[in-house]
Amino acid sequence: LKQEALASIEQSTTLKELNDVRVAYLGKKGPITEVLRGMGKLSAEERPKMGALVNVVREEITEKLEAKKELLEEEEVKAQLASESIDVTLPGRPVSKGSRHPLTQIVEEMEDLFIGMGYSVMEGPEVEKDYYNFEALNLPKGHPARDMQDSFYISDDLLMRTHTSTVQARTMEGNVEKGPIKIICPGKVYRRDSDDATHSHQFMQIEGLVIGKDISMANLKGTLEVFAKKMFGEEREIRLRPSFFPFTEPSVEIDISCKMCNGKGCSVCKNTGWIEVLGGGMVHPNVLEMNGYNAKELSGFAFGIGVERIAMLRYGVDDIRHFYTNDSRFLQQFSVHE
Ligand code: PHE
Repeated sequence: LKQEALASIEQSTTLKELNDVRVAYLGKKGPITEVLRGMGKLSAEERPKMGALVNVVREEITEKLEAKKELLEEEEVKAQLASESIDVTLPGRPVSKGSRHPLTQIVEEMEDLFIGMGYSVMEGPEVEKDYYNFEALNLPKGHPARDMQDSFYISDDLLMRTHTSTVQARTMEGNVEKGPIKIICPGKVYRRDSDDATHSHQFMQIEGLVIGKDISMANLKGTLEVFAKKMFGEEREIRLRPSFFPFTEPSVEIDISCKMCNGKGCSVCKNTGWIEVLGGGMVHPNVLEMNGYNAKELSGFAFGIGVERIAMLRYGVDDIRHFYTNDSRFLQQFSVHE
């Protein structure tokens, strides 16, 4: 029995196996316990002899168990250390890292430019009240110019904003002192347009609004000239064309001289030498008054820049949809600009 037990101990390779051996030989149902139970049947002389013998066997098995247990525990620790060790000579795995979206890069660049000219950056909601999108901008219900910006309505009163000019109204209304304002507002806008190479039902604008004493069209032109030269190079020129927006009077559309052909005419600028990038004008007196300003004391200009247009010109992108399909081959090209 002893030999058998010792051999089993020797053969155990894990702590669990060893424990099974312990239970089998020394446990309540094991042979040793059985022998001890049967002691009562023995004669008085035999009993002490048998008792001594059983004790010796049990001690020997216990000792062997202890020794083996220590050994196995040691091995287990070693194995664990080995499995957790780090081979510092292995080459690292490449970390795949994203980059900022080209539109984000352009917006941040424009923000920095305007912040440098003393503007603050504002934000407004994309789900907007009809009031701020139209009415407070001199576009009452039923005004035909509402059709210029086909809209996604959510309810009678709520829509996806069609332009960032909403923030003009919100900022003027919120300025309780009715004092000067100098802000830009970048953000997404939505129109019910069919998507093609130059149209997207969702795109981005940067709105600008400056209100103060004696603000004139010359200030607007000067500001946008600085903007064009900083974004596209010193040789860029701008051109103002008369236009119409209900919230500005007079209104202009602003073109930048075409970079591809240096103003000589090419397919990009449809042979005109110019590319339209934004709308603007002098804030309409009705808009000032409607938002609590005294139009006889203060005046202002506003503009709305199409962010994708700027990005397309800047990076030579020929389809606006590239900005929204998130093809990583397209996006990866812009990590070099960071
Ligand atoms: N909100 C106009 C548009 O989206 C652009 C604009 C902004 C025009 C500010 C004038 C003044 O078309």
